[in-house]
Amino acid sequence: MANSQFLSTCSADALQKAAEQLKAGHLVAFPTETVYGLGADATNEEAVKRIYEVKGRPSNHPLIVHVTSMNALEIWAQDIPDYAIDLARAFWPGPMTLILKRSELAKDFITGGQDSVGIRVPSDPIALELLTRFESLGGLGVAAPSANRFGQVSPTSALDVQVELGNYLSDSDSILAGGQSKVGIESTIIDCISVAPVILRPGAVTIAMINLVTQIELANTDGLQLRVSGHLEKHYAPITKVIINQTPTPGQAFIALSTIQTPKGVYRISAPLNVNEFARDIYAGMRKADALGFSELIVEVPEGQGIEVALIDRLKKAANGR
Ligand code: TXA
Ligand code: MG
Repeated sequence: MANSQFLSTCSADALQKAAEQLKAGHLVAFPTETVYGLGADATNEEAVKRIYEVKGRPSNHPLIVHVTSMNALEIWAQDIPDYAIDLARAFWPGPMTLILKRSELAKDFITGGQDSVGIRVPSDPIALELLTRFESLGGLGVAAPSANRFGQVSPTSALDVQVELGNYLSDSDSILAGGQSKVGIESTIIDCISVAPVILRPGAVTIAMINLVTQIELANTDGLQLRVSGHLEKHYAPITKVIINQTPTPGQAFIALSTIQTPKGVYRISAPLNVNEFARDIYAGMRKADALGFSELIVEVPEGQGIEVALIDRLKKAANGR
């Protein structure tokens, strides 16, 4: 178990210190409403390089730049379509990332050499306060992937980040402890490069919500060749084997809505009351199954066209294993 030397409270002083650490080129893991992010100054190549080292992530995978408001769109992006502005107005701050044509500021070390850049305004108050203080120091944006080692489940608490990355961080890095992430799965990623939006990764901002705001029929994602690491088949996987929608048998771990009974001899990891709780707790549930040493985790996934789409996406990836 990693030590807790990096964990910091979220007092005003601690947030100011964290903003200064970012500005000085160090790493700060911070809470967002989706999952915890591992942040670095998005204009500092050396700092961004360390994100890849600490995560063990291939360097051609692009990073999302986190900013305090849509005003920052024009410094990081160009040729922004009207529908992207509508999406930004409707869902920021919130669990949505827009992929836009990059400006000069978005260098190859952020975009993985692509001509586009991902931007997000998170709604978590601690994330926003950290970003605001960073911008007050002259910072322009914080690059942050999920704060897990490459291919692992995203962390939804500071302790999860500590366990994942504690052995890889340096003395001048820190982890802001801001409680449990409220959404629990990563942001909806929407490609806004062409005439119509394309969902690259489903999330809490759903297809229906996007259609309503843009009034545009969503393009088909089939055949897309973008380097989205979330598209790798083996991803988001715990050590425990995840099996979807199968009746659990004795000795297996089980996650399902509270209305579903636990068969005899089955270990119930969690019984969320609704689909939002399900999403919020799913990664912690996978981590718990790992920690308890279960070889198999059965997940009964709720059906629906809302955040259920994102849930089944992540669970299918987890079920593909390592
Ligand atoms: O909710 C989230 O989005 C979290 C929090 C911390 O903001 N971040 C997150 O980052 O999930 P990450 O790096 O773990 O996943 C972002 C995904 C990656 O699959 C990356 O390849 C893709 O977004 N991405 C980033 N920039 C891109 C771009 N310009 N074009 C296509 N995909 C991009
Ligand atoms: Mg990730």
